[in-house]
Amino acid sequence: MRPSPAHAADDAPVRITILVDNTVNRPGLRAEHGWAVWIDAGDTTLLVDTGQSDLVIANATALGLRFDALDAVVLSHGHYDHTGGLAAVLERARDGVRVYAHPAALRPKVRCTPAGSRPIGIPAEGLAALHRPGVDLRLIETPTDIAPGLWLTGPIPRRHAEEVPEPGFCLDPAGQIPDPLDDDLALCLETPAGRVVILGCAHRGVVATLDQSAALRPTTRLQAVMGGMHLRSATAATLQWSVEALKHSGYERLVPAHCTGLPAIAALWAACPGRCGEAGVGTTLSF
Ligand SMILES: [Fe+2]
Ligand SMILES: [Fe+2]
Repeated sequence: MRPSPAHAADDAPVRITILVDNTVNRPGLRAEHGWAVWIDAGDTTLLVDTGQSDLVIANATALGLRFDALDAVVLSHGHYDHTGGLAAVLERARDGVRVYAHPAALRPKVRCTPAGSRPIGIPAEGLAALHRPGVDLRLIETPTDIAPGLWLTGPIPRRHAEEVPEPGFCLDPAGQIPDPLDDDLALCLETPAGRVVILGCAHRGVVATLDQSAALRPTTRLQAVMGGMHLRSATAATLQWSVEALKHSGYERLVPAHCTGLPAIAALWAACPGRCGEAGVGTTLSF
């Protein structure tokens, strides 16, 4: 894996650029709580998630990336911090752009805390944009190929009792119906360097996600895992178990981002010396 500037001429078969993340590491770009990743893979250009706002547009423009080049947009799940830029992105995308999501991503979603509840699903304008003429919405409930070597896991079965679901994600404002987050999925890329897994928030468990990827399409060539690992509110036991599992996952490179949380990022870096990479808006990874 070679880090390189997003705008550099780069003949690597696969280039992945972080467009939205909770941190930023290049001048001229900005961060927000959210996640969006631009991927050039051979003949296919796609965006995984769209951040929380129109910031994805500003950052892409600053990096010289054009949304009319997109073949597809993947929604890792239906939370606002991954779908807030969806309407703005689809406004700029070409006719026929494919959008992949699990149908449950389109449900209303609510964050319930003792202080009250607030909507955290796809914003109304994003939902409307999905049904606009020219948008090829593909609601998927099984593993799905986007292009050769580029595929979506589909739903992630929970596998490990240690990966305890975080409370407070609901489908109703009263908090009576827990959101199983069964819309959560990951993108897998078979690069010349091996498999790269792009996570959204890994709400179904980062280890369960990697296990599902392996179960669906076994490979011994494991290159990188990047994205939100959602360990910010994890108990010490869950965090320790997850870090240990990632350490022994076989992936050469770990790039924790977005909702992973500083304690988990620190623990991963400490447990896996030489294997962790910084995320942040503007980071480009080539494979
Ligand atoms: Fe998130
Ligand atoms: Fe999320």
